[in-house]
Amino acid sequence: MTTARTSDLWWKSAIVYCLDVETFLDWDGDGTGDLIGLTERIDYLAGIGISCLWLMPFQPSPNRDDGYDITDYYGVDPRLGSLGDFVAMIRTAKDRGMRVIIDLVVNHTSDRHPWFRAARSSRTSPFRDWYVWSDDIPEEPKAEVVFPDAEDSIWAWDEKAGQYYLHHFYSHQPDLNIANPKVREELARIVGFWLELGVDGFRVDAVPFLLETGGIAGNVEIDPHDFLRDLRSFMARRRGDVMMLGEVNLPHKDLQLFFGGPDGDEVQLLFNFILMQSIYLSLARQDARPLAKALRETVRKTDDQQYANFLRNHDELTLDKLTDAQRQEVFDAFGPEPDMQLFGRGLRRRLPSMLDGDEQRIRMAYSLLFSLPGTPVLFYGEEIGMGENLAIEGRLSVRSPMQWTDEKNGGFSSAPPSRLRRPVVEGRFGPLAVNAAAQRRDPDSLLTWMERLIRRRRETPELAWGAWHVLESDVVGVFAHRCDWEGRSVVAVHNLGADPCIVRVELGDVPEGATLDDLLDERGALDEIDGAALELKLGGYGYRWFRIGAADQRTPP
Ligand code: NOJ
Repeated sequence: MTTARTSDLWWKSAIVYCLDVETFLDWDGDGTGDLIGLTERIDYLAGIGISCLWLMPFQPSPNRDDGYDITDYYGVDPRLGSLGDFVAMIRTAKDRGMRVIIDLVVNHTSDRHPWFRAARSSRTSPFRDWYVWSDDIPEEPKAEVVFPDAEDSIWAWDEKAGQYYLHHFYSHQPDLNIANPKVREELARIVGFWLELGVDGFRVDAVPFLLETGGIAGNVEIDPHDFLRDLRSFMARRRGDVMMLGEVNLPHKDLQLFFGGPDGDEVQLLFNFILMQSIYLSLARQDARPLAKALRETVRKTDDQQYANFLRNHDELTLDKLTDAQRQEVFDAFGPEPDMQLFGRGLRRRLPSMLDGDEQRIRMAYSLLFSLPGTPVLFYGEEIGMGENLAIEGRLSVRSPMQWTDEKNGGFSSAPPSRLRRPVVEGRFGPLAVNAAAQRRDPDSLLTWMERLIRRRRETPELAWGAWHVLESDVVGVFAHRCDWEGRSVVAVHNLGADPCIVRVELGDVPEGATLDDLLDERGALDEIDGAALELKLGGYGYRWFRIGAADQRTPP
């Protein structure tokens, strides 16, 4: 397979960067980030090697769920700019070789959306059936409430409507009824609209909830996966290279369904929540086995599918798929104070603060992320090692302003601090200590290191495309895996433990006389392999990537 083919399925080799326009860069000085500000920082992102931007919701919204409560799917929140600014941003990103995907939040609307206002006004409204109503509260498992701090039921009584309506998230986010063909038509129109403006794909919000229509009285029963298939085929008719990245936090066996049937005709990319949670358990225990188990259970059915790997996203760092005892271990290690935890299932912290600023350990964690089979996704600020601001409520603690400089407001905005959309981080991880400008000029900074790591990852297609295997090693804290692709193999070895070690890794098949090309060590050291095993010295939290085999002119440099 050649690079030409791999670029058709661009999402498999992408480096994704998630950001919220309102906390990235404030160009007009009103305290809120904007599209012009983002456009001005596209070169920064291109310079790091980001190949795909993921924009969190930027549409008009009362902002009761930070934009995940939309009142107009065809617009831009005026605080962030205009549709014209959006198009200018997309054009600039494309010019710098970047794709752009946006959040598609269509499980629910805001309760202030004109559709819901009309729907609740009368039973005969043409929009009534756009939402899901019931005269009584149907039987429901309690576990379905997503935000247990704010809601105790997924049904809310609406006085005006004289009925209950379904809302899997906050009660101000009524669920759309995707069993209604008119709703499905409208969703396709929304998708078509943004595709025409140049968007390359969608991060589809809350997919399992979006598909949950079964059992609702009066609803036409549909196979919810039909909806995803329809959407995929609609997108493919409009543009062949559009990608959907699904937010599906389910065990691996259920996750598979969302890739589609044998043809893989639903979403192309799925977040690997299970792998992420196992990484944290492994980090907490300094034991590679939970991670190894999760990777073994990660299965890809067809060639164009991929998992999206991440260490942090914009929500609470959910640990909901761990057992209570396992979750407690992670809490004890990385977020022991009640204020660091959320919903009894997650953490409100960013990685560097959880790892107590240990730069070697932080680098090891990102080296691991970028070596794992799948598409790496960064959350803004991870490249410079930003921490959280626990003074900001709930999940928003990690959505503080990007730290550009050590100046006022971290260089995010010239507005008075009291007018900022959110306060900047203070203290050890605040802008005085952690900012892009200083790290940009420091050859040893996390940012500089991350740029090199991303460059290496982009030049190592084996990781994005290859068949993967977990390798056996004789040290419990060492995780080793191998990816084989097009006759080449890459092996990555990570020491999750604090202690240095000498580890023996069983490599599997190795061609006679093969050498190891060290991919991260700038000296490009070559080590001899002793049979099919590799003996290595690793420092505490040490990491190495190797390519096996004799390099020829076809091997990336
Ligand atoms: C998942 C998003 O990641 C989260 O931020 C949001 O609150 C819910 N979906 C509801 O849209």
